[in-house]
Amino acid sequence: MKIVHSIADLRGALAGARKPAFVPTMGNLHDGHLALVQRARELGDVTVASIFVNRLQFLPHEDFDSYPRTFDADCEQLRAAGSDIVFAPNENALYPEPQAYKVYPPTALADILEGEFRPGFFTGVCTVVMKLFACVQPRVAVFGKKDYQQLMVIRGMVRQFALPIEIVAGETQRAADGLALSSRNGYLSGTERDEAVHLSRVLAAMAAQVRTGESIPDVENAAMETLRSRGWQPEYMTVRRRSDLRAPMDAAEPRVALGAARLGTKRLIDNVEF
Ligand code: PAF
Repeated sequence: MKIVHSIADLRGALAGARKPAFVPTMGNLHDGHLALVQRARELGDVTVASIFVNRLQFLPHEDFDSYPRTFDADCEQLRAAGSDIVFAPNENALYPEPQAYKVYPPTALADILEGEFRPGFFTGVCTVVMKLFACVQPRVAVFGKKDYQQLMVIRGMVRQFALPIEIVAGETQRAADGLALSSRNGYLSGTERDEAVHLSRVLAAMAAQVRTGESIPDVENAAMETLRSRGWQPEYMTVRRRSDLRAPMDAAEPRVALGAARLGTKRLIDNVEF
């Protein structure tokens, strides 16, 4: 496995690759990331994973400075998972000057849900992903469904800019009790970790209730109340159609229950398709 830090070295390492398959990450890897790498290996002839904590997608009060940087352990895991190349630029390599050109995704998709609570988040994500795509020039890229809205925003960006990249969705990996794996789970205390699984349980219950015909607003309100009664501060617990994350128009549409909630100072997100 080659570890490269500059765009020039990345291009050198990729010389001759016919179908690079790419998994962008911010490091602090877990089995969810490794499953994406595994998927990428099936899809391309060279597998590239990037590790870059992207300042542009953090709000000033968020955890950019404290975000866990576990580079050596990440590289070991990527080596074991069969990644061929790790692209780990430092900030100066990726943003040698202030990034004045940015990708602004449409507000209808990017200013709802995560975008409502993390303004500018998807501009930061799109801008770095566009830049990483320019560096890696993948033919296929794998994004996890855990960040469901991110996956949709990236799909829209690739479609509208006609980028010659197939975007593949990787299933969310879960702990034995159902908690979605996330780099930020490491922030949870023991008791918070035990409680955290209730986010996915409440989302699964929402999906079941809507399937049996209960009113979506009632189900959403009840889910918010359930989490509040357990000591959470929910931001949104909602049912949307999968196609554009707007309110479903009828029961035949594929839907997804999405939620974000704070447990103490920790923020968790998850979703359940149905
Ligand atoms: O999902 C992530 O880890 C990040 O948003 C991504 C796609 C690597 C961009 O920084």
